[in-house]
Amino acid sequence: MGKSVRALGLVGAGGHAREVWAIAKASNRRVLFFSEDDAPKGKRVCGTRVIDIANLHSLKDTVDLVLAVGSPLGRRKLAERLKSFRFTNLIHPQACVGPGVTFGHGCVVAPLAVITAEVTIGNHVLINSGAVVSHHCRLGDFTTCSPNSTLGGGVVLEDGSFVAMGATIANGVSIGIGTVVAAGSVVLQDIDEPMTMVAGVPATRRKKLRHWIGRV
Ligand SMILES: CC(C)(COP(=O)(O)OP(=O)(O)OC[C@H]1O[C@@H](n2cnc3c(N)ncnc32)[C@H](O)[C@@H]1OP(=O)(O)O)[C@@H](O)C(=O)NCCC(=O)NCCS
Repeated sequence: MGKSVRALGLVGAGGHAREVWAIAKASNRRVLFFSEDDAPKGKRVCGTRVIDIANLHSLKDTVDLVLAVGSPLGRRKLAERLKSFRFTNLIHPQACVGPGVTFGHGCVVAPLAVITAEVTIGNHVLINSGAVVSHHCRLGDFTTCSPNSTLGGGVVLEDGSFVAMGATIANGVSIGIGTVVAAGSVVLQDIDEPMTMVAGVPATRRKKLRHWIGRV
């Protein structure tokens, strides 16, 4: 038996959460609430109530959650706090998902994203508008492909790595844990060192990061 379809709760109440709300609407999913820390009483986003994360636990058996924050670090922290919840995948009807593509849980795929064939996708992965993920890629947990980024065939994104807007990763390249590829960059070689920021065409190492990217 498949899982029952429940109403959704979106964790996050910022700009990205509004985009996830739009994907949920386009997918005919009912959004019961947004949620954030220290939510002011009576706050609404997109006409929907915003509730405090501290008050979510009583809803554990009635809603599915989606982590609607853009940063890998933010999603990882929330997933740890909310690990007793069920998370669902949200895939926009105008995204193109080919055969042999597998998802973990809590993933978001935005409109016009293309995931071609035989791609393995972990948990809480964000594939944003117009991103292209080619055959045999492997995307670890909490990874992000920002709008209009492109992964060639066989690219590996290790957990928590972040590909910014318009960046391109060449075929077969691996990107290490928590590594950030800056906007518009072109990565031609493996970035083995974890938690590194790379930028440019071709991309070169720019700085060591102390933690996964938290603001995008
Ligand atoms: C990756 C990113 C977040 C890095 O920001 P940052 O940590 O503030 O980076 P810094 O300003 O410290 O840059 C470090 C160096 O890299 C260079 N750099 C940063 N971004 C670059 C880029 N996109 N292309 C080329 N060089 C870049 C800087 O000029 C700087 O060089 P310097 O050391 O010679 O002065 C930012 O460049 C980026 O890509 N932002 C877009 C994020 C995005 O796509 N979000 C999704 C929205 S939906």
